[in-house]
Amino acid sequence: MLFDENVKATALPLSLLKNITDDFTNNNEIGNGGFAVVYKGLLENGVVAVKKLANMSVTDERRFLGEVECLMKAKHKNIVRFLGYCSDSQGQWVEYNGKSVMGDVRQRLLCFEYVPNRSLDKYIKGAHTSLEWGKRYQIIKGVCEGLHFLHKKNIVHSDLKPANILLDNDMTPKITDFGISRCFDGKQTHIITKSIIGSRRYLAPEGFYGKISFKSDIFSLGVTIIEILTLNEDYPDVLRVLKCWEHRLEKSQKDQELEQISVCTKVAQSCLEFYPAKRPSAQDIIDILKQKEGNEWPIETGGSSSTVPYESSHVEDKSKSSSSTGPKAYSFAQNKNMPPRRRHRRIC
Ligand SMILES: Nc1ncnc2c1ncn2[C@@H]1O[C@H](COP(=O)(O)OP(=O)(O)OP(=O)(O)O)[C@@H](O)[C@H]1O
Ligand SMILES: [Mg+2]
Repeated sequence: MLFDENVKATALPLSLLKNITDDFTNNNEIGNGGFAVVYKGLLENGVVAVKKLANMSVTDERRFLGEVECLMKAKHKNIVRFLGYCSDSQGQWVEYNGKSVMGDVRQRLLCFEYVPNRSLDKYIKGAHTSLEWGKRYQIIKGVCEGLHFLHKKNIVHSDLKPANILLDNDMTPKITDFGISRCFDGKQTHIITKSIIGSRRYLAPEGFYGKISFKSDIFSLGVTIIEILTLNEDYPDVLRVLKCWEHRLEKSQKDQELEQISVCTKVAQSCLEFYPAKRPSAQDIIDILKQKEGNEWPIETGGSSSTVPYESSHVEDKSKSSSSTGPKAYSFAQNKNMPPRRRHRRIC
């Protein structure tokens, strides 16, 4: 039943999840982040991933409920498939402040399809840096489509980054980790939180003041695309990125692929605009990529990156983003709140 795509995610008993993970044994651990440990669960007819949330304080309970709420609405080929949840509370005699008391022991778990090829960050920073361009392009497109779907459903992910993008057998990307995601109501455009949420490296400038919006996801998408393109944290210059890739591409598809790389670099730059309103929407980005696939975007290699303008309809502020000095993308160096840079390998 768990594997039937038409069945809605459902409540699952703790005993079942214990059973399939061999009581959450370390041997079955497949990943962990700041808030959970993820285990492989073995069923008779397949494998699932079981995410066991740590420390169930009131805040963690809110996180769990928020994650379930978003996941219930998020059914798409580029979003990890949510199979079920478990919310279990049991009275247990426990030691508390030197006394034995009846405590409420909570277990909160989520069950997903198992995505076998690990998370994208491992390919960017690890031994798999040779990931060819064709695959990277498919990943960029898939992530954009997944994010577009979320935004259509009024969900802001808030923690989009390569570590939260899982890769399937055929390298289809699946966005995961909705622990700090928010479902906005129809007309809501942003919220202000008291604390900074998200991962600093991927956080939009306004995120450092607690503002979360669809456009803050777009900023995180921009950083993610840059990492997929360059394996390098610097603000990319289109010509430099193209030059680096030129040596690596197969001759037969070189022109087409260089064009894709050029467009993706410029899309990423526009996502990093300092002002949220100047960033494209996920729909805009998909339109740009689709348009490019129709070969309507001739590549320009003779000038600076600013000589390749965006189609006016794809960015919200046409006059500024296609000006003669090019889009003023946000530079990592401008952000005083950013942690010190780590060194990444370059692509050439
Ligand atoms: N469905 C899955 N299939 C395979 N591996 C998974 C799956 N879900 C999670 N993982 C692994 O577990 C890791 C942590 O998962 P996840 O990001 O959901 O947890 P988290 O504790 O909320 O992380 P964070 O610190 O980013 O909030 C992932 O990076 C991935 O390696
Ligand atoms: Mg995570």
